[in-house]
Amino acid sequence: MKTKQLFLNEEQRQGSLNTAAEILKNGGTVAVPTETVYGLAASALSDSAVAKIFTAKGRPQDNPLIVHISDVKMLFKVAKEIPDVVFRLAEKFWPGPLTLVLPKGENVCESVSAGLDTVAVRCPKNETALELIKTSGLPLAAPSANLSGSPSPTKASHVVADLNGKIDAVLMGEDCAVGVESTVVTLVTHPPRLLRPGAVTAEQLREFLPDLVIDPAVLKELESGEQAASPGMKYKHYAPKKQVFLVEGESRAFCDYVNHRENAVALCFEDEAEKITIEKLVYGSSDSAETLAKNLFDMLRKIDTLEADEAYVHAPEKTGVGLAVYNRLIRAAGFKVITL
Ligand code: TXA
Ligand code: MG
Repeated sequence: MKTKQLFLNEEQRQGSLNTAAEILKNGGTVAVPTETVYGLAASALSDSAVAKIFTAKGRPQDNPLIVHISDVKMLFKVAKEIPDVVFRLAEKFWPGPLTLVLPKGENVCESVSAGLDTVAVRCPKNETALELIKTSGLPLAAPSANLSGSPSPTKASHVVADLNGKIDAVLMGEDCAVGVESTVVTLVTHPPRLLRPGAVTAEQLREFLPDLVIDPAVLKELESGEQAASPGMKYKHYAPKKQVFLVEGESRAFCDYVNHRENAVALCFEDEAEKITIEKLVYGSSDSAETLAKNLFDMLRKIDTLEADEAYVHAPEKTGVGLAVYNRLIRAAGFKVITL
């Protein structure tokens, strides 16, 4: 299949959005920028459209998708038995990087939820994503627009590298502002549970959900036989082809440690670069987890373009947005953590 690249400069924008909306209404697939990562969208109302997402990504059939809506009104079309706290959360965090798991509405097709009776829903903040939902008039099922298992796409070029020839079109938008996927919280369990950390932090959510618990799978590997509350948690994820190690420790200890590695690259903080004598990539400043999040997936992709056999990544603090960065890195490392 030939993948159309749809451009979003002033003259082409409306035409591109109309073309993309037509493709979606006809049961096709379109990659779209969101503020978190690029998504691969199809109509959430059509099993045959959603099947194309799973095929293009090579995604395991039991891993459900997030449904994207353009406003709270649309929530009633995709979910049911909506508790009041959802409206307070929506007022504060939507549009934005927060996904809520709720009882599934009847219209949403089976394969979106991979057979579960719940549905994950979010209202994205990116203008292009919002306009695409409005123009198509459809709730859009959209996982990250990468090949399953590889780092999520935060640039249009990442999508093209992974999915060219496998999807109908890509909206060629800007780089993603947040850089890690949305926070996922399930409200169907008591107490509510954080399944995946993102830019909306646990600390922010506790103002609305004081009894929020953090799923153990956020920070550690599931034991064999343990059931994942969020099916996506059990897969190796976000991983370059090279072996990645996540290194925890003080700055000086990290620099010393990596300087003794051979055939390796370090992924480090800004102020460490000059102290590191092996090949290095910088992913941001240790006191700004937001910058680490924004650059993370691009850097994980860059690791694969280098000669080195292994990568050593300096772990961020596990607070605020740092928890989301740590959660992605520990999966990219296949849970191989070195504590100095
Ligand atoms: O920021 C994002 O969330 C991006 C953009 C495109 O919106 N989307 C995204 O989708 O990251 P995906 O498919 O890569 O991740 C969805 C996560 C998976 O871990 C999946 O298991 C979980 O959400 N999920 C989806 N539906 C669920 C449900 N009904 N119950 C529990 N977990 C669910
Ligand atoms: Mg993904």
